[in-house]
Amino acid sequence: MELSQICSYEAGTKIASYLLVQEARVRRTRDDKPYLDLVFSDASGRINGKIWDAAEIDAPEPGTPVGVLAQVDSYNEQLQLIVEKMFIVNEKEHREKGFNWELLIPRTKKDMDAMWQAVTDAVASVENPFLKKLLEKMIIENGEQIKKWPASLVLHHAYLGGYLEHIFGMMEVALPAARSYTLDADLVLAGVLLHDIGKLGELSGFPNNHYTNEGNFLGHIVIGWHLVHSAIGEIEDFPIELRLRLEHIILSHQGKYEYQSPKMPAFPEAVLVHYVDELDARLNMMDKVMAEDSSDSLWSNTRNYFKIPIYRGIADADD
Ligand SMILES: [Fe+2]
Ligand SMILES: [Fe+2]
Repeated sequence: MELSQICSYEAGTKIASYLLVQEARVRRTRDDKPYLDLVFSDASGRINGKIWDAAEIDAPEPGTPVGVLAQVDSYNEQLQLIVEKMFIVNEKEHREKGFNWELLIPRTKKDMDAMWQAVTDAVASVENPFLKKLLEKMIIENGEQIKKWPASLVLHHAYLGGYLEHIFGMMEVALPAARSYTLDADLVLAGVLLHDIGKLGELSGFPNNHYTNEGNFLGHIVIGWHLVHSAIGEIEDFPIELRLRLEHIILSHQGKYEYQSPKMPAFPEAVLVHYVDELDARLNMMDKVMAEDSSDSLWSNTRNYFKIPIYRGIADADD
């Protein structure tokens, strides 16, 4: 049987795939029989799965690569896998059969080195010595982690290099905008590069990509504020008002109290970072809708973040 990826699954078909276990829990049916409730992922998406007869199966650890034979089923309008066979992958053995980590871990399609170079150049051009020192310490010195991190678990830029792509995309829009509105470009850049820094603590990296304990208890806004506050504490004579303005950008970047921001953006640089963040995330989510809807119709279905059909513009326009 040919190997397939999650994005190409269709209800009513049988699949053979290499997948990553993201979650695995033993639950019990109404008549008290154990079954395994799973979440799988690969480079193309995530999907739930069930193993109904799980009396003799141990739940695999999250992050384990597995081979799966399953039936694709539709449940509550979502696809899920009814797993017939699942085995833990022995990398050496399965390479010959087509196993490859690149099939399992989603990755930015943009050039990571070029994006990182642009971020490095932008930090090098910062004029404010305090912000420059802070960005060197928090961004440049953490380059290895920043290049690998996703920007979120599922919503937007949820892949290896996603954090970098998100801050790079925002930077490309926010810096010209800051100049055009004669705002403090150094502060805007610091806000852009650091607004989501708490994601480094809120999420774990790949292959086992999940919310950490810290993430569930505190969330990325609080973690990020704390990281920036502590790092500034180590920079001698960092001006208090500059610290407060940058901390405010982090606390207000989600823009609304109901989106977990304890403050609303209260000065122009904070407004700019908030809207550019929103813009970059939304455009990425639209890309995701286009990529995940494998039909060839002109409009996507409504099972997406926007809850409306999204214009895809790829089919014959006569229906
Ligand atoms: Fe955020
Ligand atoms: Fe963000």
